Amino acid sequence: MMALSAARDAVYRRALDFAARQTRAVVEREPGFYPMYTRQGRWRHGQEAWTQWTDGFFAGLLWKLYAYTGDPWWRQQAEVYSAALEPRQHDREVHDLGFVFLNSYWPWQCVSGDRRLEAVIVQAGRTLAMRFNERGQFLRSFLAPESLFIDIMMNVPIILHAARVTGDVRLREIALAHCRTTARYLVRADGSTAHEGIFDLETGQFLRQSTQQGLRAESAWARGLAWSLYGFATVYRYTELPEFLEVSRRNAAYFVEHLPADGVPHWDFDADPTAPPPWGAQKDSSAAAIAASGLFDLAQLSGEDRWREAALQLLDALCGPKFLADQTPGWEGMLLHGVYHTGKGLGVDESVIWGDFFFVEALGKAVGLASSANSLPHSGADPQNS
Ligand code: GLY
Repeated sequence: MMALSAARDAVYRRALDFAARQTRAVVEREPGFYPMYTRQGRWRHGQEAWTQWTDGFFAGLLWKLYAYTGDPWWRQQAEVYSAALEPRQHDREVHDLGFVFLNSYWPWQCVSGDRRLEAVIVQAGRTLAMRFNERGQFLRSFLAPESLFIDIMMNVPIILHAARVTGDVRLREIALAHCRTTARYLVRADGSTAHEGIFDLETGQFLRQSTQQGLRAESAWARGLAWSLYGFATVYRYTELPEFLEVSRRNAAYFVEHLPADGVPHWDFDADPTAPPPWGAQKDSSAAAIAASGLFDLAQLSGEDRWREAALQLLDALCGPKFLADQTPGWEGMLLHGVYHTGKGLGVDESVIWGDFFFVEALGKAVGLASSANSLPHSGADPQNS
């Protein structure tokens, strides 16, 4: 692996310092508040959430900034914001329990060594597994029983985690079945992904690709592709099954080869960049941040340095004046030009907390933060490898 140049190291550490200032300001302004997306640069507003999936990201940011700074203030805050999430281990309303607990309780367990925290993660994994549709062999999205989302690939690792900790073979079977169904129906031959799949609940048969947050059923919603790239890489990390590494690699190739000249994707790879925003030339900086973090992992898992170089180029773009909010007085997030939900008009051209979270995670990987709180360090295949 090539060493990070001194110039890049300095730029990335400046961005991390900025991230710490922005995050500290959120905590000091309104303790206990979990930001989701900004409106005109402000985290606090009365707009809807659509679904409650993001609270683990703010707790996770605090853990990552603890890893970066070593300052116990961050750990104290991280514990407070993580502990408040505990009741969510039983939350049957969302498919996002990996996002919630692998970014809060997992780093907490790694930092503290307290095995009692493990029970919460395991329960969250079991709760997520209850979404399994036996006939269709997938975990259903929060939206409807017949709906499978690409986003769930980022959450399914918590089921593998629970399976590993408990030795529960059924949990592992559910997770692998979900991944294979997703790879078969949502990931296309060219590496692009559909956001959603719709199944016949009577027969379990796959009916069609669809979308909630992308441009069209057959388009490549940029964030969904980033979730897939990163999610399949993480599943490979757990299982060492090459079929999952192959999917991640295919996603990565599509993502990298379709980037525009400024290095950050539009919100959907099929959006017309000559048309006005929000349906046309709207960027999604969060897709770039997620992909950067996933590409670092893919580089490590595959041994292919080109993915690391692609991740660094994404970070270079995000650290530039067009995307980093450090030159925008009064803006409360870190990354400009993210999107939550174009169709609903939520968080369009704003900061989004998952964008900021994965940006900090990717910066941490780039500068070589060797902390368990900086990434999910699950390595090695599970005992039952099939
Ligand atoms: N619902 C997950 C996302 O907006 O990416």
